[in-house]
Amino acid sequence: MAYREKKIDHTLIDCETINKFVKRLGEEITRDYRGKELYFICVLKGSFVFMADLVREIKLPCEVDFMSVSSYSGDKSTGVVKINKDLDRSIAGKHVLIVEDIVDTGLTLNHLKSLLTTRNPASIGIVTAFDKPMRRRVDIHVDYIGMEVPNEFIVGYGLDLDGYYRNLPEVVVLSDSDED
Ligand code: IMP
Ligand code: MG
Repeated sequence: MAYREKKIDHTLIDCETINKFVKRLGEEITRDYRGKELYFICVLKGSFVFMADLVREIKLPCEVDFMSVSSYSGDKSTGVVKINKDLDRSIAGKHVLIVEDIVDTGLTLNHLKSLLTTRNPASIGIVTAFDKPMRRRVDIHVDYIGMEVPNEFIVGYGLDLDGYYRNLPEVVVLSDSDED
């Protein structure tokens, strides 16, 4: 069985805190892009929950699209990405915002941003729910950050461990022990 029950050690970020930062980000983005249209790119899978909440706080015309990328095997250190599912539409001339669940080393996002930049969007920005700045390995500018988190492995609100726990509405830290 793939799923091994782990205990939730503690809740790190509750639903109320998440709702507050999502609303704040929605207001900031709506203000910054006034008079423009937005093209949101959800980086699957982790960002699907955050993306769904965020776009409902955007008071501008916007499109949503989904992309799935993975690191080339054996190339984790460079963050070179392979596209498993590409965008449905051209982003040329559009104001693009890449939506991430969490920025950790920043390697994947760095490569994804360079790749999308070659498609000539009018602008390209990054919005993330969570940021782990202590783990950063590349100097990448993140335009909108929900919350900084400590250097701990977290799950919930879209974030997974081996594909599980994405459905938890809050963000939790799992206990180290697999035993009861
Ligand atoms: P990086 O910034 O290229 O290192 O990769 C970020 C990706 O790693 C995120 O999109 C997540 O899928 C995953 N990740 C990083 N930290 C965590 C965590 O604490 N919990 C769950 N997934 C994480
Ligand atoms: Mg993940």
